[in-house]
Amino acid sequence: MLYIGVDLGTSSVKLLLMDEEGQIKSIVTREYPLYFPKPGWSEQNPEDWYSALVDGIKELTKDCNKDEIDGISFSGQMHGMVILDENDKVIRPAILWNDGRTQAECDYLNNEIGREKISSYTANMALTGFTAPKLLWVRKHEPDNFAKIKKVMLPKDYIAYMLSGVHCTDVSDASGMLLFDVKNKCWSKEMLDICGLKEEQMAKVFESYEVVGTLSQKAADELGLPSTVKVIAGGGDQAVAAVGTGTVGEGKCNISLGTSGVVFISSQNFAVDDNNALHAFCHADGKYHLMGVMLSAAASNKWWMDEIIGTKEYSKEQKDITKLGQNNVYFLPYLMGERTPHNNPNARGTFIGMTMDTTRADMTQAVLEGVAFALRDSFEIAKSLGVNIERTRINGGGAKSPLWCKIVANVLNVKVDKINSEEGPAFGAAILAAVGCGKYASVEEATEKLIKVVETTEQDPDIVELYNKKYQVFKEIYPTLKDMFDKMV
Ligand code: XUL
Repeated sequence: MLYIGVDLGTSSVKLLLMDEEGQIKSIVTREYPLYFPKPGWSEQNPEDWYSALVDGIKELTKDCNKDEIDGISFSGQMHGMVILDENDKVIRPAILWNDGRTQAECDYLNNEIGREKISSYTANMALTGFTAPKLLWVRKHEPDNFAKIKKVMLPKDYIAYMLSGVHCTDVSDASGMLLFDVKNKCWSKEMLDICGLKEEQMAKVFESYEVVGTLSQKAADELGLPSTVKVIAGGGDQAVAAVGTGTVGEGKCNISLGTSGVVFISSQNFAVDDNNALHAFCHADGKYHLMGVMLSAAASNKWWMDEIIGTKEYSKEQKDITKLGQNNVYFLPYLMGERTPHNNPNARGTFIGMTMDTTRADMTQAVLEGVAFALRDSFEIAKSLGVNIERTRINGGGAKSPLWCKIVANVLNVKVDKINSEEGPAFGAAILAAVGCGKYASVEEATEKLIKVVETTEQDPDIVELYNKKYQVFKEIYPTLKDMFDKMV
């Protein structure tokens, strides 16, 4: 049998066809536009996602026996607000995870209603990217649109609806809406009240590996696939990427060095930190996870390489970097503000510590180290909750750099494992499809069978010691500059 994994990203949709042994048969990518109607706003047309998907799936499946396709599942960009009217038509463009228009709504939720209350309802605090503040924004600024809402959906759930006709979501993605009671895995009545919504306006909630239906005849005709293909709920991109690296079960860690940077810790039990510094979400394996998200990880290095020093030869630039832990230049990677741990859209990127003998390589090294120190901020919060992490898996574009993996291993003092697939979210989605179709008894069983560690980067105690000292300095830079950042906006 064959399984389709869909990774509905922010710039493109990636589609992957996997067989029963976890072999990837083909991969197809289709791009779609991203709109920034005002500074800090970020929107997409859900119809663009669907037409890209239809076009891509036809290409993906053109050479296979279509009767062998058993199921399809999803990894989705999280937090985006898709609203449908009574005819299931999209009311306005989706407002995405990286849209920053809702600061006033977040201040209302965190300060007037109160962060502790919001956390007791949802296990999280309000952040500009999350869905509930977006709904409050639409209620205030576009009351006509708000009045038309029949269903609130998330990006990948809109696709699942278009394929199956079922208004569904899954626990991991629902966790990022700030409308979901994460601990009890149900919609929060209190949060729905605060946002002026009723439970019937929300989608039906599934575990990520559960079947929500099969292809509707219309979708089957559009895709050229049999209507017996099962549609499996899928999950938020970080949870599904974690499935794709085998980060499931108790106390496993995955670091994503993608555009954003993520420290993802899986757990059998629900946990939340007192300050809501980490997101406390449901995992796609049926359990829970904690997660710290920094907004510019590989994006910081890309900015430094492409825009500032003007090169595409990343590994050549990294060749001269040999003295780990001995750099006097520091970099704060807050080029798009920062989420974890500062939750401050006004934070800015900063180099500090240069002297006349500072080299281009020192600056490049500072960027790579600054991202690793920022990941350590999330790591330290997890440690303060009693989570003991000795090794982590790593994925995302930045993980292709052996030097960056070494820096991460030494800054975090952990072993860093690379696995046999680089396709994190799309691979994870295909695994969820296989579990949903009954090929494996659980997500954990599937990942144990399909995912292997192929390379480990070990830390060096001397370098770890040097980085411990540097991290103490790094930690002081943001608080020292915070007021300055606020004055710069
Ligand atoms: C997770 C998050 C991102 C987006 C876009 O909280 O904001 O992973 O889902 O990829």
